[in-house]
Amino acid sequence: MGKTIKIRVPGTSANCGPGFDSLGVSCTIYNDLELTLLHEPALQIFVEGEGVDNIPTDDRNLAWKSIQTLLRHCKADEEYKGAIIRMKNGIPLSRGLGSSAAAIVGALKAANVLLGNPLDRRGLLKIATDLEGHPDNVAPAIFGGFTVSLLNDGIPECFSFMPRLLLNLVVAVPDFHLSTKAARSALPLDVPLKDAVFNVGRAALLVGALLKGNAAFLRNAFDDALHQPYRAKLIPGMYDVFRAAKEAGALGVAMSGAGPCIIAFTTDSMDAIGHAMTEAFHRNGVEAHFLTLGIDKRGAHIVK
Ligand code: HSE
Repeated sequence: MGKTIKIRVPGTSANCGPGFDSLGVSCTIYNDLELTLLHEPALQIFVEGEGVDNIPTDDRNLAWKSIQTLLRHCKADEEYKGAIIRMKNGIPLSRGLGSSAAAIVGALKAANVLLGNPLDRRGLLKIATDLEGHPDNVAPAIFGGFTVSLLNDGIPECFSFMPRLLLNLVVAVPDFHLSTKAARSALPLDVPLKDAVFNVGRAALLVGALLKGNAAFLRNAFDDALHQPYRAKLIPGMYDVFRAAKEAGALGVAMSGAGPCIIAFTTDSMDAIGHAMTEAFHRNGVEAHFLTLGIDKRGAHIVK
């Protein structure tokens, strides 16, 4: 049997309000993926924790597909034809916390390490973005921190930084799933210029205020006109939850990725904000719980 490696990958929240498909943040909630590459064409996949009843343990498994992509890319698919994969998942599935990005990034990083690191993090970002379709979850999963990512002629670029203020994350997790595909199909092909202008200013303000550590500017920086208004119908009570979070003291609040989780950004009052958000969901007939998280600094890394 070959060598085994274990990788820890953070969950992520994409968009962060105005940064549709561009901004993301790495959260202190994790999946562990342990990989052994095999020379023979055998596949064993074990799943524990979140997604235990939903994640396929055969050829359809996203982590395995990602490993195969990396092996082909590095011309190692003749040498390694099988794998043993153990997934221990803390990130809820299909809720907007980057569970598929974590599966992809954990698998790519593990296979890359076992091959002797032929790719650097930018190389991993390219393959991960191709697999995920957009860079805003895989970038923070790889680099940690707050990330600005974009595609330049199909090549992803990413800038990662830690905000210069202690920003905490309160995530309200409703008890239903929403696929990214369904949430993306709610979006229009074109948006009004005034909505684009609304977001450009706020996305720039958000990054500037985080880099400066200016909490006062953040109060207007998390709003969005490009995707949330079209997706609101998919999340009962979304704007009530937004209001409740702000009234309880949040600096800003947004859909987490494509939802249905709602994320509040705050410097304090985390529990009060979490209770206010879940109560607002309950008033709209939706069961929910909340997570109080920080910003993960490291991104995907080896666990000794
Ligand atoms: N930027 C993506 C979206 C994130 O909002 O559709 C979802 O993974």
